[in-house]
Order: sequence, then C-alpha cells, then structure tokens
Amino acid sequence: MRLVPLFIDASYMERAEEPLTVNTPEIRQPSLENSTMENLKRQKETVFSLVQVKGTWKRKAGQNVKQGIKGRVSAAKIYESTSSSGTTWTVVTPVTFTYTVIQTKNLLDPSNDTLLLGHIRDTQQLEAVHSSTKPLKRFIVMDEVVYNLYGSQVTNYLKARHVLYRILPLPTTEENKSMEMALKILEEVHQFGIDRRNEPIIAIGGGVCLDIVGLAASLYRRRTPYIRVPTTLLSYIDASVGAKTGVNFANCKNKLGTYIAPVAAFLDRSFIQTISRRHISNGLAEMLKMALMKHRGLFELLEAQGQFLLDSKFQSGLVLEDDRINPASVSTRVAIETMLEELAPNLWEDDLDRLVDFGHLISPELEMKVLPALLHGEAVNIDMSYMVYMACEMGLLTEQEKFRIICCMLGLELPVWHQDCTFALVQKSLCDRLQHSGGLVRMPLPTGLGRAEIFNDTDEGILFQAYKKWCDELSTGSIQ
Ligand SMILES: NC(=O)c1ccc[n+]([C@@H]2O[C@H](COP(=O)([O-])OP(=O)(O)OC[C@H]3O[C@@H](n4cnc5c(N)ncnc54)[C@H](O)[C@@H]3O)[C@@H](O)[C@H]2O)c1
Ligand SMILES: [Zn+2]
Repeated sequence: MRLVPLFIDASYMERAEEPLTVNTPEIRQPSLENSTMENLKRQKETVFSLVQVKGTWKRKAGQNVKQGIKGRVSAAKIYESTSSSGTTWTVVTPVTFTYTVIQTKNLLDPSNDTLLLGHIRDTQQLEAVHSSTKPLKRFIVMDEVVYNLYGSQVTNYLKARHVLYRILPLPTTEENKSMEMALKILEEVHQFGIDRRNEPIIAIGGGVCLDIVGLAASLYRRRTPYIRVPTTLLSYIDASVGAKTGVNFANCKNKLGTYIAPVAAFLDRSFIQTISRRHISNGLAEMLKMALMKHRGLFELLEAQGQFLLDSKFQSGLVLEDDRINPASVSTRVAIETMLEELAPNLWEDDLDRLVDFGHLISPELEMKVLPALLHGEAVNIDMSYMVYMACEMGLLTEQEKFRIICCMLGLELPVWHQDCTFALVQKSLCDRLQHSGGLVRMPLPTGLGRAEIFNDTDEGILFQAYKKWCDELSTGSIQ
C-alpha cells in the first residue's frame, strides 16, 4: 500500500491579487472591553463576493465580481476584518420572499386549480405536476365554524382531485390563539407527513386561524410553505396579505410570532357571505384605515356605498357582476393594493414610520382592557375617531372633513367613542409607543381625505383639547 501524502487544500486561503479594501461603516467595532487601542485598529477590511464554481461556493475579493465570471454570483457578501486579537467576519445576505395574492371566484369548484396549484409560479414545475400520476398531498387546518359551513365543499374538492389529504378542524378563537394550539397542529402535521418542498400547509379561516397556522408552518422544519385562505373580511384585506404570523403569549396579543410570508393567499369573497354583519363592519374599519391614509377614492366609495356593502355582504349579485364597477370588488382590490404598497417595502417592519399603524396606537390597550367587548376593528375605529379629532385640532383637517369622516364611520356601523377610552389610557398608550418606537411617537394622522403624514411633535395641550372635544361631541351620540 502506498502512502499518499496528506494534501491540504489551501484554496480557501486564496486571495485576489489586489483585495479590495473598503470602508464599511455599518460593520460593528469589536467590544471595547478587554481591548487595547491597538486591538481596535483594524488592520484590514476586505469584502468578498461569493461565486459558485462546480457546485461549491468560493470567496472572491471584490464588491462586484460579475464581470468575466462564469459561475453563479450570490447577492451575499462576507466582510472580513483583522485586528491583533483575531478575525471578524460579517455576513450580509439579502433574504428574498416571493408570495402571490390571488383574487379568485369559485375557489372550491373542482375545476378551479387555484387551491392546489395557485402557488406554483414556475411553468416547468407546473407542467411536471400536471403530467405526474402521483397524487398530490395536502394538510389543511380549518376554523371549526368554517369547517361546519364549508367542510363538505372542501372535502368534495379534494376527493374530486384525488388528493391525499387530512383536514384538521380547530376552534381557532382569540382565547385559543396560543402556542399550545400551534403545537397541536405541528403534532398532526408530523404524523401525517408532508414534503416541505412541495406540499404546503393550507389554512382556511379568519385571521386567528391564519396567524396560528402561519406560525406553526414557519416552525416546522424551520420553514414549511403555507397558504392562506381568508374567510372573514378582516382577514381578506389585512391578515392574508402580509407576512406576520403569531399567537398570544403572557396575556399579550401576538407576543410570539414570525415574519414569514405565505407562499400564496387565495382570496374568494364568497366566504364573506356567512359572516355576521358586525364582523363585516369590523373588516370595514381596516379598509377605512387604508382609505383615510392613502386613497380618497376608496373613502368616497365607503361613504357612498358603505351601507350597500354591509347589506350585500360583499357579494356582487347578478346585476353588478362587472368587477370594474361593483363596489365589493373595487373596494377590496384598492384595499389590498394600498396595503401591499405599504407592506412590500417593509415586510419585516424595520422602518417604524408606518401609515398602517393608524388606529393602532391606542386601540391595543383599549381592546385588552375591555376584552371581549370590542372586536379588533371596532377598537381600531375608536382610536381612528380620536385621531381625526387630533388632526382637526392641529389644523390638518377642516371641521367639515372631520364631520364627513365621523359620518362615514357611523354609516359603516362602527363605534366612534367608548367610555373606557379615558385620557389616562390615551397618555399611557402614547408613552408605551414612545418606548417601543425608538423614542418617537410616530403618529400617523390624516392631512386631508386620503392623505396622511407621520407626526412626532404632539403637544400634550392639543392632545387634551382634542380629547375633550371628542368626548363633548361624540359621547352623547348627537352626530348621527
Ligand atoms: N397577520 C396579520 O397581519 C394580521 C392582520 C390583522 C389581524 N390579524 C389577526 O387576525 C385576528 C382577527 O381576525 P378575524 O377578525 O378574522 O377574527 P377570527 O379569526 O376570530 O374570526 C372571527 C369569527 O368569524 C368566524 N368565521 C370565520 N370565517 C367565517 C365565515 N366565512 N362564516 C362564518 N363565520 C366565520 C370565526 O369562527 C370567528 O368566530 C386577530 O387575532 C388579529 O391579531 C393578523
Ligand atoms: Zn389591525
């Protein structure tokens, strides 16, 4: 037997002839503790791109190495700096999320592919699925109430499509929105067994169901794709289009959660026909939020058609089948578009200046205080109503605009005032906001109908004046 000399592959030590030494101010300095000034001085800081050659990734010095390179170049970079105490590597790697929001009709009609295949964007992958004889496999979690109403349609759909399936109906109420329920889902998913590459978990229900399933999926095997099928108005225009998942914890709303977007959300308005009138108003509050912040046309539509939307439960009927003019499809489309505009560039909420926070500064405190008396959207509306008075007091809105907004809220059958929304509660909420928003209150306020800005200089006197006027004018219910 011949002894082969041990070969050390030192290629990972390779450096380009002229490494690019860059100044990267975002790179953290080494800890000051136990460091001498000598240690603090970086001797060299080098940026490496990553290139895939024959299946392995190699570092290549330089910020932009695409020119003349045949292999794949990653968008990730490694910054290396050396000091007398050692080497520091800082990895900067962009994470991309791609998800599709599809408005569809007849989602549960077996001839509609969306529920099973709507999340697949790659045409080759889609063709492969179509030509395969292997049955598809899906794990589905449904809100129990929704299961009682639509379970047989879902079952018929899956049977007609020869899917291997397991439906798990659960009482996904706000009180049950817990880690225990997420774990229960995970146990069932594990027993059923799914391939995390191509067998997404499907959640069908209101915002609570979508949030819990989203969290469970983002934990299973570190990130299993999931699909949202919203069945309430609120979840249709709000919970289904973003990336947030979560459960309540330690008596706090959504304290545990992740920012993992679904692979897709499939929206079918027909589910909304079975929700109560109060829950339609609840969803309309989040829609009104987007209208007041960003879209005058949507505000005017809600002003004129609010009652119609409530009466028709967002169903078109035969007369208004044309999606370009029917208020249900126009309003939901605009609400989703405006929501996506605000969410897509800030999916992980790194930017704390968020117009979508309108109505969410005081409402969490109020909602928890009176639980379960107010639904989320109702608490949001009470918050928005007070903020409209603030905006008016600050000269951002005219009296007439204020009046129109309050009348619109009342037309949507939403509460505009609440006795438990005391001035002390307002102050406490804004103090909490200051603490958790980097020392600024970041208060979104309307500056006209369908226009808004973020304000940080809120004067205590104006806050109180607005509060007083708000109580004087609205506590008696005289504006109707
Ligand atoms: N992830 C997000 O970005 C996001 C955004 C907004 C709200 N949320 C969360 O969403 C939750 C509120 O959502 P929600 O208002 O949909 O509440 P919900 O999920 O509690 O549903 C409301 C009620 O309607 C019932 N229901 C659902 N669909 C039905 C249907 N088609 N017909 C008849 N009854 C039906 C449910 O059983 C429930 O009783 C909150 O927990 C909130 O934190 C999340
Ligand atoms: Zn909300």
